[in-house]
Amino acid sequence: MDTQIFRHPTDDELYILAQALRNGDVVAIPTETVYGLGANGLDPDSMDKIYAAKGRPSDNPLILHVPDADSIAPLVTEIPQLAKELMDAFWPGPLTITLPKSDLVPDRATCGLDRVALRCPNHELCRRLLKAAGVPIAAPSANISGRPSPTTAEAVYADMNGRIPYILDDGPCTIGVESTVVEVGPDMVTILRPGGITKEMLETIVSHVRYDTALSNSAAAPKAPGMKYTHYAPDAPMVTFVGTPQEVCHEILNDRKQRFDGLIGDIPGLKHTNGPRIAYLLSEETYELLEEAITEPIQIYGHHNDAVGLAHDLYSALHSFNEYGVDFIYAEGVYNESLGVAVMNRLEKASSGAVIYL
Ligand code: TXA
Ligand code: MG
Repeated sequence: MDTQIFRHPTDDELYILAQALRNGDVVAIPTETVYGLGANGLDPDSMDKIYAAKGRPSDNPLILHVPDADSIAPLVTEIPQLAKELMDAFWPGPLTITLPKSDLVPDRATCGLDRVALRCPNHELCRRLLKAAGVPIAAPSANISGRPSPTTAEAVYADMNGRIPYILDDGPCTIGVESTVVEVGPDMVTILRPGGITKEMLETIVSHVRYDTALSNSAAAPKAPGMKYTHYAPDAPMVTFVGTPQEVCHEILNDRKQRFDGLIGDIPGLKHTNGPRIAYLLSEETYELLEEAITEPIQIYGHHNDAVGLAHDLYSALHSFNEYGVDFIYAEGVYNESLGVAVMNRLEKASSGAVIYL
């Protein structure tokens, strides 16, 4: 199958893509978080194509995307008052809400769960496409299962070329990590997956917000089935350090010496000739301390503890490191607060748990 990319589409081209979605084709779509792999969310056969293209485990349900809050009415049996307040506050935006599903929603979307996950993306072109399609669009992140999510059309193409017919390219995603997935009770919100809407932001609307226990206790079964799988893994092993720039710099040099001494010279410039190729994902301050001791590829995401910058650059950095064919990745994380919770959740998984707080 040839994969066709539509960049900045005309109205006619957007109409072609909307028709393709209605007719059961898979279209990769931009959102403000990551690119999604879209298909008709009312049609099980269309959604089967998403599972096939991604190699997605068949028990991992899909988020249905809608152009506005009014569109969810036929998809659910009730909308609690608190859910309405959250939609008012955060839609369109990176918040996914699970609600009791109506019979219109096929089991293929929810994998047999009695709740359906719903999201209205804060991305104008995406919402225009959703409106033109006229059906809810099921869309997981547009990567092969287990790999880093795509935040550019190029990254979608790298994973999906030949597997899907269409990609809608609208440039890089603004946020860079996925939406927050929440379950809403009568007076309480449970975060199943941390994401673009932080706990602190939710607390401006509801006083009781908690994380699903599985997020901190690996023995508990997560309520979002996807949270139990390996995710976001770059091709190379990765270690993440969190601390002051001085601490992170010290630990990277230490770890590198222990891990690669003998394989890697101490003289800058000789490092890559025969030895392993090492990549670095760092804040500006840490980079300045390490500058003399490291060579490409290096990705700088912003200032120290800049969770917004790291969210924006994390997946694109992992994709570029894959393209370089690096042997090992050193990353500098951020503190576990606010958007940092979502970023560190992704880094934990990308590093297979090798996150060291200094
Ligand atoms: O930002 C996002 O949410 C992106 C863009 C494309 O919208 N989509 C995305 O989808 O991240 P995906 O499939 O990669 O992740 C969806 C997560 C998974 O962990 C899945 O298990 C969970 O949401 N989920 C989906 N439906 C659910 C449901 N009914 N109950 C609980 N968790 C659900
Ligand atoms: Mg995903």
